[in-house]
Amino acid sequence: MLFADVIRHKRDGGVLGDAEIQFFVDGLADGSLPAEQVSSLAMAIFLNSMTFDETATLTTAMAESGTVLDWSSAGLDGPVVDKHSTGGVGDKVSFLLAPIAAACGCFVPMISGRGLGHTGGTTDKAESIPGYNTAPDFETFRKVVKTIGCAVIGQTSDLAPADRRLYSIRDVTATVESIPLITASILSKKIAAGLNALVMDVKVGSGAFMPTYERSVDLAKSIIATAAKAGLKTSAVLTDMNEVLGTTAGNALEIEEAMAFLRNDYRESRLDEVVLALCAEMLLTAGLEDDVDTAAKRCDDAVSSGRAAEIFDRMCASLGGPGDFVDNSRKYLATAPVQKPVFGKGYLTAVDVRAVGNSIIELGGGRRQVGETLDLSVGLSDVAPIGTYLDAQRPLAVIHAASPDAAAHVEKLLLEACSTSDSAPSESVVIHQKLSGPG
Ligand code: URA
Repeated sequence: MLFADVIRHKRDGGVLGDAEIQFFVDGLADGSLPAEQVSSLAMAIFLNSMTFDETATLTTAMAESGTVLDWSSAGLDGPVVDKHSTGGVGDKVSFLLAPIAAACGCFVPMISGRGLGHTGGTTDKAESIPGYNTAPDFETFRKVVKTIGCAVIGQTSDLAPADRRLYSIRDVTATVESIPLITASILSKKIAAGLNALVMDVKVGSGAFMPTYERSVDLAKSIIATAAKAGLKTSAVLTDMNEVLGTTAGNALEIEEAMAFLRNDYRESRLDEVVLALCAEMLLTAGLEDDVDTAAKRCDDAVSSGRAAEIFDRMCASLGGPGDFVDNSRKYLATAPVQKPVFGKGYLTAVDVRAVGNSIIELGGGRRQVGETLDLSVGLSDVAPIGTYLDAQRPLAVIHAASPDAAAHVEKLLLEACSTSDSAPSESVVIHQKLSGPG
């Protein structure tokens, strides 16, 4: 088979056969397909989409491109469950959910991604923690999940390697925002992780990959139906991405906000709502609770009691990071040399979150090219929520940059990305909708 014929077939609107999809996935996994052919097919899929059957075949082939974990012999006394987000800005939820769900009796083998397009990646954020190994060997990964209850790691070369390569090429070729590609990317990792249940955080709004609410619902339905075909019980929560989640965006800054949450120092209300809704949904989907309020209370207790913080520290130490990270995170995290507040005037009424995400890339906190090294210290803190009255006392955000020039450049971008008005906007919804599939 000639790969150019596969590209041509999809370019002309055809439906790829199983053998063509397998050829693509094999070439991704063993590196034999050059990046230009991979990106051409990704663009053809982006433009002409895939049928449900093509998406399911791609998902299974990518999941099986490496090791598929099986926890049945591990002697775990709870369900193996995870959450995954379709991608947002300021989304540090994984660092909270994994230890909270573990404190509630779940086992969470969380295989996360790097930054994608304008969104940040959990793996990059985790690498802000000195010594933390995001690519442990399988034995270590299994042991940490079994003994501590959770392990947040990145994609290793063994788990869904086809997605790892495709993901890095999509990141820099404007081929991210495709329902079949997002579905296959997310589910291949989750199927390879051997989960019993999955909760999807499907983002909606100006920082989401899908351009409209309806398309986000379509994405949620695609993920739920494809997961069901692979025997993975999945539900989805549609959450708001019309503004940065929490008060920070950027790798180390988001880790610090997550640690402040675990320390119970500061739990920003929208972040708190998203974390508790997703974590409660994990307990429901995994069958550990059947009432949402009781489930949310159990998750809340795991944070306020300090149990989730303790689990995070144990996970961090087991993966090579400091064992006192939650309490002393500021001591360990890199800080940028320049910190510049950005001022506006009036009520903050709307934010172009994609532009905010792109401004993090401009600062060096995200990639423009495959394999680029990031400056993990840069980003935004003190990000004002929509509805805040901005004046000389209350900035829009504080920019953390490597140089005064970079800060000045991003100041301009941020001011363009944000709208203000003399009158306050109406309150925005954080949790839009829940969708679930067949058991
Ligand atoms: N997260 C993933 O893992 N893959 C995507 O394509 C989008 C979000």
